[in-house]
Amino acid sequence: MFRSLIFTILCGFAAADTSSEMDQHWELWNQTHNKVYFHQIEELGRRQIWEENLEMINVHNLETSLGLHTYKLGMNHLGGNTTEEIAGSPTGTIVPSDLDRNPSDFIWVNTSLPDSLDWMDADLVIEVKKQVRSSAGYMLTPNIWTVVLQATYGDERALKVAVANIGPISVAIDASSRKFAFYRHGVYQDDSCSHNVTHSMLAVGYGTQRGQDYWLLKNRSGVKYGDEGYIKMARNSQSQCGIADYACFPII
Ligand SMILES: *[C@@H]1O[C@H](CO)[C@@H](O)[C@H](O)[C@H]1NC(C)=O
Ligand SMILES: *[C@@H]1O[C@H](CO)[C@@H](O)[C@H](O)[C@H]1NC(C)=O
Ligand SMILES: *[C@@H]1O[C@H](CO)[C@@H](O)[C@H](O)[C@H]1NC(C)=O
Ligand SMILES: *[C@@H]1O[C@H](CO)[C@@H](O)[C@H](O)[C@H]1NC(C)=O
Ligand SMILES: *[C@@H]1O[C@H](CO)[C@@H](O)[C@H](O)[C@H]1NC(C)=O
Repeated sequence: MFRSLIFTILCGFAAADTSSEMDQHWELWNQTHNKVYFHQIEELGRRQIWEENLEMINVHNLETSLGLHTYKLGMNHLGGNTTEEIAGSPTGTIVPSDLDRNPSDFIWVNTSLPDSLDWMDADLVIEVKKQVRSSAGYMLTPNIWTVVLQATYGDERALKVAVANIGPISVAIDASSRKFAFYRHGVYQDDSCSHNVTHSMLAVGYGTQRGQDYWLLKNRSGVKYGDEGYIKMARNSQSQCGIADYACFPII
């Protein structure tokens, strides 16, 4: 019994790099995301990457069910992409080294702040977004942050003040991790996240879920990503993924 199990496992691995049991799932994923491949060889390569990603996702979710993580992952359109492709996809965030971030310039607003906030719930948001965008110039302009911006390095309290008083704030984060790419829901807490920011997002709120503080972030243009285009990023966790390192907002 044991012998035959070992035999099956070993031969299963040796026979092929892709698992035929997954054929149907692969076809479904392929169709759902309208994938087009140049050649069968590319398709085979994508299939292998997809299986690796799927396994990583399944293992992560198993660990989550054991209480080892605070968020779940899910397969999405990036399933056939390598970590390098995911990390390297251009998002236009290049932070200039001479960015002025003198914390003493920050204007503290010492009114009491709400414990949680979601600008996407308010009708205000479009109006506020317009204002912030026009006065801040934003990171969407490649290479340059066009307008004088105030950023306070790593200061999550300052970011909270800004989100509460100004509205959605442009932030830059390290989004190069595979786990980030497949985030589905929960509070994203990733110790491997660095402060080398790669991706710009919009902080549209904050709150606390099951005792864990989070920032509510919105992907700039994609709706496919994460939890309907949102991610809950751990807050008050040493500026995880650089969330508060390059937050930008106009001085008002
Ligand atoms: C995946 O989609 C492409 C393009 O529609 C198609 O050529 C290919 O046969 C599909 N592969 C599978 C396994 O369904
Ligand atoms: C991700 O994979 C698809 C094929 O599934 C490919 O067309 C696309 O260019 C890849 N994305 C990146 C950023 O390399
Ligand atoms: C507001 O609070 C900050 C941080 O506690 C403090 O440094 C600052 O002096 C206060 N500002 C005013 C106007 O009270
Ligand atoms: C962050 O960037 C620095 C300088 O470019 C580099 O030396 C370091 O290895 C990077 N760290 C990570 C975790 O990517
Ligand atoms: C965010 O949206 C852009 C544009 O739609 C998309 O290319 C990118 O994959 C999304 N980001 C993530 C991490 O999925």
